[in-house]
Amino acid sequence: MSTVTRRARGKPGQEVPVRHMRFDFDTARMAKYCWEDDAFSSAFILTFSALIPHGERLVIDAVRARRDEVTDPELKARVTGLIGQEAMHSQVHEAFNAAYQAMGLPIDRVDRAGHWFFRKLLPAVLGKDMQLSVTCAIEHVTALMAERSFAEPELQQKLDGPARDFLLWHLLEECEHKSVAFDLYQSVCGNEFKRKAGMVLILSSSSLVFAYALALLLATPGYGQGPRKTREGIDWWFGRRGYFARMQRGLNRYYRRDFHPDQTDADAALREWRDKLFGEHGELAAHLLRTVVPRRASGA
Ligand SMILES: [Fe+2]
Ligand SMILES: [Fe+2]
Repeated sequence: MSTVTRRARGKPGQEVPVRHMRFDFDTARMAKYCWEDDAFSSAFILTFSALIPHGERLVIDAVRARRDEVTDPELKARVTGLIGQEAMHSQVHEAFNAAYQAMGLPIDRVDRAGHWFFRKLLPAVLGKDMQLSVTCAIEHVTALMAERSFAEPELQQKLDGPARDFLLWHLLEECEHKSVAFDLYQSVCGNEFKRKAGMVLILSSSSLVFAYALALLLATPGYGQGPRKTREGIDWWFGRRGYFARMQRGLNRYYRRDFHPDQTDADAALREWRDKLFGEHGELAAHLLRTVVPRRASGA
């Protein structure tokens, strides 16, 4: 379990390793529902998965556009690591999404909505500072989801094997790079109002895209499970004691003036899960092709 400590800046010596992974998404071995026997939650995960490559492209473009303004070689190297990790995540999500498209879900339509929102609309209406601010907000939300998943392994057990494997790798790396975009933002902009506005903006606007995409998937003939199961699913994620209600405290922290992503110290959980996944007998060791660690000396 992570603990909250006061920390005003990122930790020195943090590295962001880029793991090149290979996952074979064989539709014959993948469940119709990737989250238990639950169409709503499965569609929820698939919606995330289909939007993620576009959100990550926004993240990559936002940090890459500001990397040359950084003089600290360590931060520069961490930004390079963040870009590498997100690029790998997108590739694997695309393969996972393609498998569910082949299994009959209209992932391509969610994909088009994600492309329009993250890659056309947001870059067109937001300046460079706000694109980076939105990036910091996305990174905070994904880090909260990651920390939650590692603190509550029972959540992991709800996922179908192939989905669980690659999502655990993704979540681990979201934890590893959770403070990179924030440190970059503080270094090149630092405006508090814009930082907080980015969170409000992305949560409100992406919710609309997300709801549209989720409805699209649930409307797939033979996929939805009827109103009662749908209501249960909505309650599990969005209810008063639901997944996001329990995340609210973590989200609220973002609006504090002294917020820093590393105030939530997840080092022990990170070490434990790095070992479980990539240690000598790690669950995902067979999927790992190679690891590249951008370092200061590389010039980033
Ligand atoms: Fe990612
Ligand atoms: Fe990320």
